[in-house]
Amino acid sequence: MNCIITGGCGFVGSNLAAYLMEKGGQVTLFDNLARHGASTNLSWLRSQGEVSFIHGDVRNLSDVDALVRNLKPQVVFHLAGQVAMTTSMQNPRNDFEINVLGSINVLEAVRQHCPEAGIVYASSNKVYGNLSHLDLVEGPTRYHPKNNNFGVDETAAIEFHTPYGCSKGAADQYMLDYARGFGLNTIVLRHSTIYGGRQFATYDQGWVGWFCRQALESAADSERELFTISGDGKQVRDLLHVSDAVRCYVAAFEHVKQARGEAFNIGGGIDNSMSLLELFHVLEDQLDVKLKYRRLPWRQSDQKFFVADNRKAERLLDWSPKVTRDEGINSVIDWERSQRS
Ligand SMILES: NC(=O)c1ccc[n+]([C@@H]2O[C@H](COP(=O)([O-])OP(=O)(O)OC[C@H]3O[C@@H](n4cnc5c(N)ncnc54)[C@H](O)[C@@H]3O)[C@@H](O)[C@H]2O)c1
Repeated sequence: MNCIITGGCGFVGSNLAAYLMEKGGQVTLFDNLARHGASTNLSWLRSQGEVSFIHGDVRNLSDVDALVRNLKPQVVFHLAGQVAMTTSMQNPRNDFEINVLGSINVLEAVRQHCPEAGIVYASSNKVYGNLSHLDLVEGPTRYHPKNNNFGVDETAAIEFHTPYGCSKGAADQYMLDYARGFGLNTIVLRHSTIYGGRQFATYDQGWVGWFCRQALESAADSERELFTISGDGKQVRDLLHVSDAVRCYVAAFEHVKQARGEAFNIGGGIDNSMSLLELFHVLEDQLDVKLKYRRLPWRQSDQKFFVADNRKAERLLDWSPKVTRDEGINSVIDWERSQRS
């Protein structure tokens, strides 16, 4: 496979690149290395085998145009992005330029130079707003919906909240419209929480890794400052291990002819769902630590419950997640430990 991965030095991109390199793919990474950890991921990928790297910015049409014109890839995995809701509130224009303009640049370059290529886009559960229509019950450790055992499917109403929701949502809709209007082979994958190794989690993005790190630091120093959580900790997400996400990107490309122009909710599913409080209980048990934290107000438009209903992806992409949340959390603890040492 001759592929381009925009954002290829990020968390998901570097895991996808490593997988494709191992399978003998011809992989080109396109990244501006803005994310903390991206340079480290690039060095790691270079140590794994043959990979091309182009330093460039998706906001810059001439960078993207030259990239696609020169390589004429079979597929572009478009993962480069401004990835956090919080930072989109601080700088909406920057968020817009990276996520919307950057995505248009990718679409236009493919339309001009290799319209047969696939484009698989990393979208977000944030395209569904705060999902206020869900009838939720508040349990002792989590919110859960009445009468819904499968999670949220793709028929949920699109509703963009926050600049990040608007920019990811706009790009998501452009991707679908370029399939409709220009016949491009685009597929949209809507995720909530992806977790695993090579993620350099921050306070703003990557909550599983972030809280595993807080727990390890609490275990090492019981006097450390309290860490913070937003909301009451009962908000639920389904955890998608990055190795399952990688398999999904590959499955999307393999099924692009049947699934072009479609959006898919992709997550760990109901069996791998978890609230913050439930993660804390697991970490307290595993690391023999008492977690002490302080509560902040809810983040803007935070969903109290999002679990992806994966059934459309099972049907059309022949994909379902395999890694259990317990296996996955152990792998993140190992990754965070390796970073501390
Ligand atoms: N990780 C998750 O839980 C999650 C959830 C939903 C959606 N997504 C989406 O998946 C994609 C990948 O996420 P990730 O967790 O790997 O993020 P990441 O921040 O680790 O990776 C993004 C990469 O894009 C690069 N980048 C940023 N701006 C750029 C620009 N202007 N030009 C070129 N490169 C640029 C960064 O340097 C980084 O290497 C993103 O689009 C994100 O919105 C991720």
